[in-house]
Amino acid sequence: MNITVVGTGYVGLVTGTCLAENGNNVICVDIDENKVNRMKNGEVPIYEPHLDVLFERNIEAGRLNFTTNLIQGLDHAEVIFLALPTPEDEDGSADLKYVLGVAQEIGQHITDYKVIVDKSTVPVGTAEKVEATIAANTSTEFDVVSNPEFLREGFAVDDFLKPERIVVGTSSQRAEEIMHRLYKPFVRSGNPIIFMDEKSAELTKYAANSFLATKITFMNEIANYCQIVGADVDKVRIGMGTDSRIGKRFLFPGIGYGGSCFPKDVKALHKSGQDVNHKFKILDAVVEVNEAQKTILFPQINNHFGGNLKGKTISIWGLAFKPETDDIREAPSLYMIEKLLEAGAKIKAFDPEAMENVKQKLGDKIQFVDNMYEATQNTDALLICTEWSIFRTPNFSKLKAQMNDAVIFDGRNLYDIDEMTEAGFKYTSIGRTA
Ligand code: UGA
Repeated sequence: MNITVVGTGYVGLVTGTCLAENGNNVICVDIDENKVNRMKNGEVPIYEPHLDVLFERNIEAGRLNFTTNLIQGLDHAEVIFLALPTPEDEDGSADLKYVLGVAQEIGQHITDYKVIVDKSTVPVGTAEKVEATIAANTSTEFDVVSNPEFLREGFAVDDFLKPERIVVGTSSQRAEEIMHRLYKPFVRSGNPIIFMDEKSAELTKYAANSFLATKITFMNEIANYCQIVGADVDKVRIGMGTDSRIGKRFLFPGIGYGGSCFPKDVKALHKSGQDVNHKFKILDAVVEVNEAQKTILFPQINNHFGGNLKGKTISIWGLAFKPETDDIREAPSLYMIEKLLEAGAKIKAFDPEAMENVKQKLGDKIQFVDNMYEATQNTDALLICTEWSIFRTPNFSKLKAQMNDAVIFDGRNLYDIDEMTEAGFKYTSIGRTA
């Protein structure tokens, strides 16, 4: 099929590349000329495992092309994906200016039937708005479909190529058939393509992300309570998670959820509720608990140093909001850094992928080093903010010998408490007491 993807951010790029990988002819459109030129030369503008291989292969095969020319993209395709940013407005709602701006241009230019697919996470009622915007500018036939993405950063290629489910919201038989033809090759395993109305599809995405954020937050509250009463949250987690109604996944406590999706989507669903006088009380609590969770280790670090962090060096392992990404949006590490700097601490940080992004944000406010052990050289304490695999099995004797004091604050519960005590570390984690 001929497909155009408008917007080459994270979602658009993965969507375009994976659709090309499945034999479709894809044009990706972006207004950023510099980025488009870099992509034409085979440069992947984001870090996402496996994307580079697919990217190169499909560009070489001529199935994946890039342009700044939206009209060229519109002429090319039967299906047009909108993968545009929907940034958080000041009031927490999703700003639709990019989506509706492109919808207007689509209306002004299409001359034959098109399926317009909302791929971005958009509030309930957006498909209707996109449809009205296009219709106001054309008499050509078209359908608008809501097809939320469920990609996880770090696993996006796999999630796209082998989805657990695909949700498609449309009330048009013609669009349903086209979407079915497009996605059938991705669900050969028997996983479902779930068709529904547009509004339900739009809400499915918000409900799924908000539920997962709630699940994590619930576990964080349990962890904080475990800490007080002397229970071990890891044991509670396993005890709970083996009930298949609860499930093992997304029960890992830590220093809060971050990223470009959960924080934004929880707030946007909350705001959409408010707009129709529906108060999502549970989401209020989720936002509040998560905000506090990001810096939950700060008082413990501060207490360890007797309330005086001035001149102390704290090393940080992990800056990205989660492993396998260079994304630092809403990363708990940034909140901890802010608190520590405010208190007068010096910070030495290492992350396998995200240092460049933090450098751009913080400049020389903190020191960046090339590897995990350089970070812990002559340091007063180590703080772990992201559970990258390389941090899971460090050489503890080397670590202990290097550090001024063998003190670890672990925001991701990477190590066994007894082993740490035996190795002579003062070890603090989330929801577990030594
Ligand atoms: C999330 C969803 O998982 C995807 O299904 C969805 O498509 C995506 O948002 C989106 O809306 O685009 P993502 O933000 O990439 O994906 O990352 P997750 O792996 O879901 O992690 C989100 C946050 O939750 C991270 O900060 C992570 O550290 C935290 N988390 C996750 C926990 O604290 N505990 C857990 O048990 C799981």
